[in-house]
Amino acid sequence: MTVTTKTQEIPLVDLKAQYATIKDEVRKALDDVLESMQLTIGPNVRAFDQEWAAYCGTKHSVGVGSGTDALQLAIRACGVSSGDEVITVSHTFFATVEAILYASARPILVDVDEKSMLMDASAVAAAITPRTKAIIPVHLYGRTADMKPLRQLAQDRGIAIIEDAAQAHGARYNGQRVGGFGHAAAFSFYPSKNLGAYGDGGMIVTNDDRTAEKLRLLRNYGQRAKYDHSIAGTNSRLDTVQAAILRVKLPHLDEWNAARRRHADSYGERLPARVDTPSSAAGVEHVYHLYVIETDHRDAVQQQLRAKEIATGIHYPVPVHLQQACANLGYRAGDFPVTERAAQRMLSLPMYPELTTAQIEYVSDAVTEAVKRAG
Ligand SMILES: Cc1ncc(COP(=O)(O)O)c(C=O)c1O
Repeated sequence: MTVTTKTQEIPLVDLKAQYATIKDEVRKALDDVLESMQLTIGPNVRAFDQEWAAYCGTKHSVGVGSGTDALQLAIRACGVSSGDEVITVSHTFFATVEAILYASARPILVDVDEKSMLMDASAVAAAITPRTKAIIPVHLYGRTADMKPLRQLAQDRGIAIIEDAAQAHGARYNGQRVGGFGHAAAFSFYPSKNLGAYGDGGMIVTNDDRTAEKLRLLRNYGQRAKYDHSIAGTNSRLDTVQAAILRVKLPHLDEWNAARRRHADSYGERLPARVDTPSSAAGVEHVYHLYVIETDHRDAVQQQLRAKEIATGIHYPVPVHLQQACANLGYRAGDFPVTERAAQRMLSLPMYPELTTAQIEYVSDAVTEAVKRAG
């Protein structure tokens, strides 16, 4: 029997538990920023830009206001404009597709591979037209998309790849961290991400000098020097306070990702064979931003877990192609069967580095019992 009490609530993500482990470092960093009053693209933003590029193994890194802005600006910096087509998956968070719409380009959605639940190169190949300007693979839940065939497709046709790495900080594909597999990659530092700020934040990484230069202009009113605007950009700078916090957290990221992988292994050993647990593939180092199981009895299992004060999530209940905001794209129910089935069956279990063995046992036992009761 586990020691976990019946009254213990298990959240999906526990930001307070993580803060407790770094509180002194964070407070010192905040004090330093406030004492310096260098609040806009100050030394912390410049330093974090460099540290993040070094971590990802890319030449440049440009901090922006959010993951959504990172995608939007990356799309713009790649020269995508009105009338261009950009291929991505319907099985993603809405922001991936919203960023394409923001660039006045046309999102061309594809279904995902049944096993990985990630972009399927053969579906992409079938969707390419002469108007295809970019492909956005999404490293969803912290698992990397199969980049080799996608790179081949893109290179052969001069199409840009923009990785949506919002959920995959530090994930590896054939030994290389995500971020450098295409023309640019976008990260989110939304608080619950593997590397999360204490507010919004985002980052674009690239190996291309001209793209980096354009991104630095775009994030800061297109301003080359004060009051000298060479292009129309926007105001989307990474906040200095957030950069200071992220600099404290970055040295812990690998150990936090390793803890997530250990927890995923523990869940995998304890959960019943009747639920599908996340799989990995040779050469892929998953960082388990989310731990997503699949079961035919999803709603019943979720309800029973809620009764035991175990929080769960559904990522995502309505696929992007069936969202009202995408109605004018002309997709219908039935267009992407793998994505649509997943929306009915997926359930995210609590996952964060500070999860305890007792909590994992409690959650796994609760899932086992719920599945049994559901028949
Ligand atoms: C896959 C994906 N892309 C893009 C975003 C957008 O990031 P942000 O919330 O920082 O704007 C998110 C955020 O949840 C995401 O999960």
